[in-house]
Amino acid sequence: MLLEKKVSVITGALGAIGQVISRMLLEEGAFVIATDLERVIWEEEAFIGHVGRGFVDQYIVLPCDITKMEEIDSLGRIIRERGLVPEVLVNNAGINYLGYAKDVTEETWDHILEVNLKGAFFMSQCIGKLMMEGRGGSIVNIASQHGEVANLQRAPYCSSKAGLINLTRALCLEWAEYGIRVNSVLPTFVLTEKNEQTLMQSGRYRSYMREIPLRRYAAAEDVANAVLFLASDRASMITGQALAVDGGYLAK
Ligand SMILES: NC(=O)c1ccc[n+]([C@@H]2O[C@H](COP(=O)([O-])OP(=O)(O)OC[C@H]3O[C@@H](n4cnc5c(N)ncnc54)[C@H](O)[C@@H]3O)[C@@H](O)[C@H]2O)c1
Repeated sequence: MLLEKKVSVITGALGAIGQVISRMLLEEGAFVIATDLERVIWEEEAFIGHVGRGFVDQYIVLPCDITKMEEIDSLGRIIRERGLVPEVLVNNAGINYLGYAKDVTEETWDHILEVNLKGAFFMSQCIGKLMMEGRGGSIVNIASQHGEVANLQRAPYCSSKAGLINLTRALCLEWAEYGIRVNSVLPTFVLTEKNEQTLMQSGRYRSYMREIPLRRYAAAEDVANAVLFLASDRASMITGQALAVDGGYLAK
C-alpha cells in the first residue's frame, strides 16, 4: 500500500472531492485525520460512517474551521496529545464564488482568500511543525487550473489559487531541509453532485468541452490519484510542482 500507517490530515474532508481523497487514503493504509467545519461534520455524520466503513480504528474526525487560528491551534494540540505524528497534509478545503469582479464585496473577497490561501498557509504551518519533529512528510495543496490561467466571474478564486500555487513553491524552498515536500494539484472542472446541474447545462458543457482536449470533466478520483501519488514515497524527488489534472486544459 502506498501510505501504510502514515498519519494523514485532510481539510474539507467531507466535501465532494475530500470524501473521495479520504476514502482513497484509507484504502492505501493511511491513518486519516479527517477535518471539516463542525456544522458539516454534524450534518454529515452518517456519511462519515460510510467513508470509514470497513476501516475501523483507521481514522478520526475532528472539527476545524481553517479561518480560525484558535481552531487550527487546537487541532495541532489534539494531534500532539494523541501522540500522532503527521506525514501527510492535504489542504483540500476551498470555496468559490461566481460573479463579476465589479460586484465582489470586501466580505466575499476576504472569505475566499481566508479559506483558500490564508487557511492553507496556517494549516501547513501547524502540521508542518509537527512533521518537522517527526520524519518530515508531504503537503499537497488542492489549487486549480484557475490558479494558472484566469476565467470569467472568478477574480477572488483565481487570485487565491494563484497564491496557493506560489505558496507551494515558497514552502518547498524553506522546508526541504526538514524532509517536507510541498506540491499542488490543479484540477480542471471536477464533476460532483453539487455542481452537476451547472456543469451539464448544454451551452456551458459545449463551451467547456472545447477547452478540455480530453473532452471530459475530471472525476474526484482523478484528483485523488494525483494526491496519493504526491503524498507517497513514489514522489520522493518531487517538490514545488504544480501538477495539472486537467485533461490538457492548460496545454494551450
Ligand atoms: N469541484 C471542482 O470543479 C473543483 C475544480 C478545481 C479545484 N477544486 C478545489 O477542490 C477543493 C474541493 O472542492 P469540492 O468541489 O470538493 O468542494 P466542496 O464544496 O464539495 O468541498 C469543500 C469542503 O471545504 C469545507 N470548507 C469550507 N470552508 C471551510 C473552512 N473555513 N474550514 C474548513 N473547511 C471548510 C466545506 O465544508 C467542504 O466540506 C477546493 O479547494 C476547490 O477549490 C474544485
